[in-house]
Amino acid sequence: MKADIADIKLAPGGRKRILWADHDMPVLASIRERFAKQKPLAGKNVSACLHVTAETANLVRTLKAAGANVVLCASNPLSTQDDVAASLVKDFGISVFSICGENRKTYYKHIYAALDHKPVITFDDGADLVTELHTTRTKDAGRVIASMEETTTGVIRLRALDKQGKLKFPVIAVNDAASKHLFDNRYGTGQSTVDGIIRATDYLVAGKKIVVAGYGWCGRGFAMRCKGMGAVVIVTEVDPIKAIEACMDGFDVMPMGKAARIGDLFVTLTGDKHVLRREHFRVMKDRAVVANSGHFNVEIDIPALTKLSKKVIRGVRNHVDEYVLKNGRRIYLLAEGRLINLAAAEGHPASVMDMSFATQALEAEYVVKNARLLKPVVYDVPIKIENKVCALKLKSMGITIDKLTPEQIEYLSAFGEGT
Ligand SMILES: NC(=O)c1ccc[n+]([C@@H]2O[C@H](COP(=O)([O-])OP(=O)(O)OC[C@H]3O[C@@H](n4cnc5c(N)ncnc54)[C@H](O)[C@@H]3O)[C@@H](O)[C@H]2O)c1
Repeated sequence: MKADIADIKLAPGGRKRILWADHDMPVLASIRERFAKQKPLAGKNVSACLHVTAETANLVRTLKAAGANVVLCASNPLSTQDDVAASLVKDFGISVFSICGENRKTYYKHIYAALDHKPVITFDDGADLVTELHTTRTKDAGRVIASMEETTTGVIRLRALDKQGKLKFPVIAVNDAASKHLFDNRYGTGQSTVDGIIRATDYLVAGKKIVVAGYGWCGRGFAMRCKGMGAVVIVTEVDPIKAIEACMDGFDVMPMGKAARIGDLFVTLTGDKHVLRREHFRVMKDRAVVANSGHFNVEIDIPALTKLSKKVIRGVRNHVDEYVLKNGRRIYLLAEGRLINLAAAEGHPASVMDMSFATQALEAEYVVKNARLLKPVVYDVPIKIENKVCALKLKSMGITIDKLTPEQIEYLSAFGEGT
């Protein structure tokens, strides 16, 4: 079996992590059990470009149990848990190409290794495999039945490609399923972003002025958690609807130009570029901290920060670089501007990834069953799958809910009743 990982001797620690996460992923485990009997992906080559974490390990185990031949590479150079990668290779017989901290050249070498596997189904978190299949590897695009996209940034790019009529195969916007973004982006990113920042800085959240850029699913979750821990939260937005929502949720809303002078800690969660830039760094307080939890490391304009600095001291703490500006003030950049929750903490807790990855697994089964009906466009996850995942999650939590009575079904579907 081919693989390229940091150190196979790390496997015992990784195995413990994978099995610990599995306890909190009962929905995925129940799907794995069924897949092991029914083998819905029998003989299918699958390549996944996802954050190589314990939760992802349980997804790829599920795909393997379904009969797929799976290869995994990283969707971010800093998010790989090397012990998990080692255990996947040693204990679970899954090919992994991923080393934490790999440079750009190795990162792409690993992506190409995943494509050399000749996948008929791909999984992306940020559209890296799909991008290569539309640029450098177009000859391999023809065999792809469908590709799953896990994150907002990836879905935005793929919808743009679809709009131009340039998609070469069907793509499933798994991120846009309610069973994914309502929980994963909001509660998963919300909590784990706080976790990453605390692990990197050991800061007390209470009393800090925290500026949250972007009040989308991730931003809402993060702002909510910071407020709960006693921070003074300021939100910046470009969308008037989201801005009003933030106001009515009790947050201060203002432009970044103003917030930059006030904040102690700035976190970008927008999927946009240069949200924090030169004009903002210049007016920040001494010892302001900046971090990003959006998909790419372009939300903070790091080249501009570097240009403004007379000195950069790397690693003043693990995951903290100190930029000493020419005006004498210091700015601390966390995790080189990469996803702070994955670089400095462990990413989303398993319990929330249970829903995202259960949706992914069921969707893989769906695209194989419906391969002939799918066209090269972006599809939403069918509501049946979403409902199934949520119902299984409730069941695993021991929660039951009411059912509509026949009378209520009629009332809710009739026109003019109740007048
Ligand atoms: N860290 C993680 O583990 C993780 C998990 C899920 C998603 N993501 C990524 O986080 C990012 C946000 O995802 P989301 O689901 O919250 O997206 P979203 O579309 O729900 O929210 C993004 C928000 O940012 C706002 N925005 C855009 N440009 C802005 C700017 N210049 N200033 C202020 N606000 C701006 C938008 O108006 C929108 O409200 C994406 O890149 C996504 O891929 C990260």
